[in-house]
Amino acid sequence: MDDVPALRGDGGVRAVVVLTAAGSGSRLGHTVPKALVPVAGTPLVVHALRGLWASGVVDDVVVSVPAEHRDAFERAVRRAVDDATAVGVRAAARCVVGGPTRQASVAAGLDALAPRGPVTGAAATGDAAAAVAGDQPAPARVIVLVHDAARALTPPEVVVRVAEAVADGADVVVPVVPVTDSVVEVHDGVRAVDRARLRAVQTPQGFELGLLRRAHAAAAHRADDEATAATDDAQLCAVLGAETTLVPGHLDAVKVTTPRDLLLAEALVAARVASDGVPA
Ligand code: CTP
Ligand code: MG
Repeated sequence: MDDVPALRGDGGVRAVVVLTAAGSGSRLGHTVPKALVPVAGTPLVVHALRGLWASGVVDDVVVSVPAEHRDAFERAVRRAVDDATAVGVRAAARCVVGGPTRQASVAAGLDALAPRGPVTGAAATGDAAAAVAGDQPAPARVIVLVHDAARALTPPEVVVRVAEAVADGADVVVPVVPVTDSVVEVHDGVRAVDRARLRAVQTPQGFELGLLRRAHAAAAHRADDEATAATDDAQLCAVLGAETTLVPGHLDAVKVTTPRDLLLAEALVAARVASDGVPA
């Protein structure tokens, strides 16, 4: 797409992230909020941060956290930043208080990003270089990824794929995997659905920041009630007429929802440690 301003500077694609971690995890039924539940001794939110940082495309992460557990999240996030920095990983993250629904928590994260957003990978051209120096408006297109701490084991390659697709000009990018179960629709009777036409949607989803902000502003009246709130940001953008681009997700990017998912997450981390020798 020729009219897309360059988002690939010398440092490659750059993105900022809203990481949702403000849910309670009622279906998991743990004593602490889901994102603080440990897998192989490390909280899910920290696994999620490590995957984002390991992608090499993430400049900053705003983590939406539950108000009543803010201190515990601040401690976990600060420690994760320090540990990553100590081994040479470029790591940044900060916490903001989320809202009563995922949609509200994403909106809180978007509000906490700088008003015009950071300059992303724009150092390649004269105008953008001036913007980096702070004496020009930022380039119009900024990449934002919205990711769920519940999808803590999402491989870095998925993060890169999503960010690159936005850099290539897509407004909305969604990672998906094929549906393997046979599926029926149960509205007005039971009807088989051809699963070859279905995809399961994952995160991170990628957006042009201005579009995502407009989509959240337009849907703000739905944000505070689980019955009306959107569970997915791409849907909010689709309401504004934005087209969705699909990229391959990954089966390891399971959403930890129930105790059974936690067992699977433990097994996936153990398999990674066994194959890479990387400690959890
Ligand atoms: N989330 C959030 N703010 C909320 C609700 C959810 O940031 N008010 C986040 C969760 O922390 C999670 C993601 O949205 O990372 C997906 O939500 P889900 O898997 O439903 O998590 P919970 O809402 O915590 O779980 P449950 O629905 O079982 O209570
Ligand atoms: Mg929920």
